[in-house]
Amino acid sequence: MQLTINNLNKTYPNGVRALQDVSLEIPTGMYGLLGPNGAGKSTLMRTLATLQDADSGTATLGDINVLTDKDEVRRVLGYLPQEFGVYPRISAVEMLDHLAVLKGIPPAQRKEVVNALLQRVNLWDHRKKSVSSYSGGMRQRFGIAQALLGDPKLIIVDEPTAGLDPGERNRFYNLLSEIGENVIVILSTHIVEDVRELCSNMAIINNGQVLYAGAPDLALSELKGMVWEKAIAKSEIEDYQQQYRVISSKLVAGKPIIHVLSETNPDGGFKAATPGLEDVFFAKISAQEQEA
Ligand SMILES: Nc1ncnc2c1ncn2[C@@H]1O[C@H](COP(=O)(O)OP(=O)(O)OP(=O)(O)O)[C@@H](O)[C@H]1O
Ligand SMILES: [Mg+2]
Repeated sequence: MQLTINNLNKTYPNGVRALQDVSLEIPTGMYGLLGPNGAGKSTLMRTLATLQDADSGTATLGDINVLTDKDEVRRVLGYLPQEFGVYPRISAVEMLDHLAVLKGIPPAQRKEVVNALLQRVNLWDHRKKSVSSYSGGMRQRFGIAQALLGDPKLIIVDEPTAGLDPGERNRFYNLLSEIGENVIVILSTHIVEDVRELCSNMAIINNGQVLYAGAPDLALSELKGMVWEKAIAKSEIEDYQQQYRVISSKLVAGKPIIHVLSETNPDGGFKAATPGLEDVFFAKISAQEQEA
């Protein structure tokens, strides 16, 4: 199964063009969506999750028309929104059971499914507490459990690890990677390195436009030999930005280290850096800004 998105457009009533001719081919496996705040990630995910309409374009999941056959999509969809909104005062186990009813899980299997999921997301010991009393990380884990109800074939998780501590984040990623090879998992995150570790394919989007789509490794190899770094003084940042194509500036022990994009070693004490996915991210965004 593959999710094929063609020329998807969405402009909000306030004039923001949140999706501009977005075309992506998403195979089974883990697919990473990277992009700065306001890039259009959630808009794309909500559209694919049938919660909001696009203005134009198409999306097909196998032979399902995602934009029109909403009921069919929902039958195979697991979705974790970025914001959950209101939390119920009933216990987690009751809530998940209720959601399992809505998902159409047969009564004979429901209890087993619900209990297994609560165990998988490490909430078994807290199952009798209300979700409204949960910590941020526990709520997120509950959200993951509900997204996995009913063996979905398309899982869309919007910043699923926001608010999880490092241990929970690892556990969550292990869980996602166990789900199986015949499932499409679309994951948005701001943690660029997570995409490199987990996802065989990814897209970088900004201002509603796809800046890169493909394998993380391919994007990295495109930057090979192009990234140079130098430790500078804080007061020098602007000068360097004028003189070089600075794609990032990061404080290391309080001192800025800049990364510069250049086909040859720039003059002035730069040394070659091994490109990371973050360099890819910043390089694509800076290229888009230069064009604008
Ligand atoms: N309901 C809405 N009405 C008007 N504008 C909206 C609406 N939802 C989103 N936007 C705008 O559309 C753009 C894309 O927003 P979106 O939430 O899709 O970005 P995002 O990539 O998910 O960002 P973040 O990383 O902050 O979650 C932003 O400029 C945002 O302000
Ligand atoms: Mg978002």
